[in-house]
Amino acid sequence: MKVSVIGAGNVGSTVAQVLAQREIADQIVLVDIKEGVAEGKALDMWQTAPINYYDSRLKGVTNDYQATKDSDVVVITSGVPRKPGMSRDDLISINAGIVKEVTEQIVKTSPRAKIIVVSNPLDVMTYVAYRASGFEPNRVMGMAGILDTARYKAFLAEVLDCSPKDIQALLLGGHGDTMVPLPRYTTVSGIPVTQLIDKQTLDQIIKRTQNGGGEIVSLLGTSAWYAPGAAAAQMVEAIIRDQKRIFPCCALLNGEYGYKGMFVGVPVKLGKNGIEKVIEIELNEEERHLFDNSVKAVKNLIEVLEGMKVL
Ligand code: NAI
Ligand code: 2OP
Repeated sequence: MKVSVIGAGNVGSTVAQVLAQREIADQIVLVDIKEGVAEGKALDMWQTAPINYYDSRLKGVTNDYQATKDSDVVVITSGVPRKPGMSRDDLISINAGIVKEVTEQIVKTSPRAKIIVVSNPLDVMTYVAYRASGFEPNRVMGMAGILDTARYKAFLAEVLDCSPKDIQALLLGGHGDTMVPLPRYTTVSGIPVTQLIDKQTLDQIIKRTQNGGGEIVSLLGTSAWYAPGAAAAQMVEAIIRDQKRIFPCCALLNGEYGYKGMFVGVPVKLGKNGIEKVIEIELNEEERHLFDNSVKAVKNLIEVLEGMKVL
């Protein structure tokens, strides 16, 4: 199986590294616009193969889409990351142009690929890739929910002093401050989290999760890459190995949750056909209100995008 990763920056190179080390794909192509960057990183990674014992082949190229030909999955990470003081939304004008151009190249060389978008603002960039590709909706999706849920689970594991492996959780909505972690759908080995933690602490964890990306930006001066890279690689794995995993991913809604034509984070089943099912869960009044609010935030950004006439 062949996977191409567009953008060999922090997130893109981490995706490639996880894919190689876990032998998720046998061919991995890293593409960047900056001369030599993808080549250098792929070469360095390939030299870890004898140490880390993998035989996935890695190749880096500068803007050469022929090298990505017939990829099964393409991960788009190209774009500008957040700097301190910038919101994900500030990135819209720069990254929409980049994602559109990259998607048009992918369509020409890998017409049967599944596309996973990582570039921010995530829900809007996934919409850009969908529109620019003309692909069926099951073949275009965005990575955010796995990352946001992982942050939520990591914070819970810390506070509960338990293994993060035992936490099951779900989160809905856009990849922004309005995302909706769902305590009612959070358990620790089957035990409702609300039986293990008081409301005030849980509310603090939810707030920290919503600001999880920003917390790292203010520490590092740029956005995160280890967890985002691992999360995108997990989506690739679910598709390539036809795992039928249930993950929160950014997917096109076609009437589910009462919305049509919107890309937003919802639980989906991921397998060889990409998004094989959008799963509708029951929401109480408060959860519904928060979800609607998050969808509204994404809608506002789509309006900004439409006004820019990029598509
Ligand atoms: P980075 O700056 O380290 O890497 C981006 C790379 O894209 C650079 O190497 C740049 O040369 C390349 N690039 C720019 N235009 C290109 C083009 N037309 N073709 C090919 N390559 C091109 O940034 P980083 O940290 O890797 O982040 C990448 C994107 O992912 C950002 O938009 C960031 O906000 C987003 N992100 C999204 C997350 C999510 O949860 N969805 C999490 C973390 C980052
Ligand atoms: C993150 O959540 C910035 O979207 C990026 O880390």
